[in-house]
Amino acid sequence: MKKDNEQSKTPFLDALVDYCQSDPTCFDVPGHKLGHFVTDLSRKISPSILAYDANAPLGLDNLYHPTSVIKESENLAAKAFHADHCLFSINGTSGGILSMFLACLDNKDKIILPRNSHKSVINALIISGAIPIFVYPEIDDEYGIANNVSFEDYKKAIDDNLDAKAIFVINPTYFGMTTDLKSLVSYAHSHNMIVIVDEAHGSNFYFSRKLPISAMDAEADITSVSVHKNSGSLTQSSLILVKGKRVDLFEVKRAYAMLSSTSPNPLLLASLDAARKEMYFSGAKVIEEDIKIAEFVKKEINKIPGLKAVTYDYKDSHTGVYDIDRTKIVINVRNLDLYGYDVYKELRKYNNIQLELGEVYSVLALIAPGNTIEDGKKLVTAFKELANRHPLTKKRHRYHNSNIFPKTIVPPREGYDAPSLLVSFKDAIGEISSETIMAYPPGIPLLIPGELITLDVIKKINFFYREGGQILKDSKDNMIKIVDKKRWYLSDAYMHSLT
Ligand SMILES: Cc1ncc(COP(=O)(O)O)c(C=O)c1O
Repeated sequence: MKKDNEQSKTPFLDALVDYCQSDPTCFDVPGHKLGHFVTDLSRKISPSILAYDANAPLGLDNLYHPTSVIKESENLAAKAFHADHCLFSINGTSGGILSMFLACLDNKDKIILPRNSHKSVINALIISGAIPIFVYPEIDDEYGIANNVSFEDYKKAIDDNLDAKAIFVINPTYFGMTTDLKSLVSYAHSHNMIVIVDEAHGSNFYFSRKLPISAMDAEADITSVSVHKNSGSLTQSSLILVKGKRVDLFEVKRAYAMLSSTSPNPLLLASLDAARKEMYFSGAKVIEEDIKIAEFVKKEINKIPGLKAVTYDYKDSHTGVYDIDRTKIVINVRNLDLYGYDVYKELRKYNNIQLELGEVYSVLALIAPGNTIEDGKKLVTAFKELANRHPLTKKRHRYHNSNIFPKTIVPPREGYDAPSLLVSFKDAIGEISSETIMAYPPGIPLLIPGELITLDVIKKINFFYREGGQILKDSKDNMIKIVDKKRWYLSDAYMHSLT
């Protein structure tokens, strides 16, 4: 396809470099004065970090009311990412999701969304006051992973909840699985619903036809895209992209400004400019290479007894998978009688290999623009060594119930706001949670405010504690914040739940 030369521009990055290299005498923040105050950050990493850490000098525009270089850079990103409008997010896609929910939903508006959404989505429900209508992902018990939600399940939820204002879609899941987004957008739009997308793991979709369709190409209304995860910008930098007229851009900007620092880090913004340019011109080629590396690794892994990697034909036998991001490598290790957590740690210990995550039965490796075929070969060697260290055994099959989604008793905002008590896990059974508890990564909550705490959920949380998965929760370990029913007698929702 013919390339647009305009995309070789990096207006914000250039303005930042020009300003910092002009050696200004600074009487503004930040206090290190472009690195004149030397700290260990300069000594141990590089003086350049502080030398380009300007705040808001004349000429560098304002992120929340852009009129010059930031505006130009955002417009270039909008074009490169096939959107009508783009905002640079300095708060990752977590911040993007909060902004999208606040912009699109009012208190008590209904939204149809997957229960295996990221923690930021649950936070967005609490902050916006929106009412979730959960749809459930296909669970693959063999790999121990949650896939996407099928188009049919979304369709049924739309048909059953015609008063919902929006649907929320993950494109793709952490493990690279997508739903039939194009059909879904068209079905939701035909029912007058806004389509909000989480593309924390989908920034590469915009640059290659060999990957699943992106939210903007599927005509979704709004998405947040973690450019930092697989397209080369600095950690924490994302985009919010808007298309069409269903979403009010003013509301998006307002929500985003309300939730973000008034001192955006310029290196984050500059890195978005640079990554967008690079991916625009070389993304297709680099992604093709990434896919080749990933396919090579999967083929070799599938020759090692006891290991199994997801291949592209996985989609043909899974209802929650319409398409797959082939740059992701999901490897099932359960037949080596290991948990993914063990493998995650062992590969670092023996091979200095850092995987993206270890799950119960599987691990995830990401191939992105910075990887080479040599990296792929190292990964294969590490797995061969792992298999040699752990000869195949048939005897053990450890129990893990991956398919427990607790029942919603009241909406997350009510569960969160209700008077609460801190109790032991044992005493929490049968109560309503007032906090979010999740295994990290992948950061999908096991329990959210407003949900019923069952023995199965407690067993699952304990399983993660015992087997080395990291549990993140709002209150103390081994205690849960529950709704204090005695003090919580005014809520209609609660009274309703008793009947
Ligand atoms: C599915 C999903 N959505 C949203 C996020 C948040 O993205 P970010 O890290 O850019 O804030 C993550 C982070 O891992 C994620 O996995």
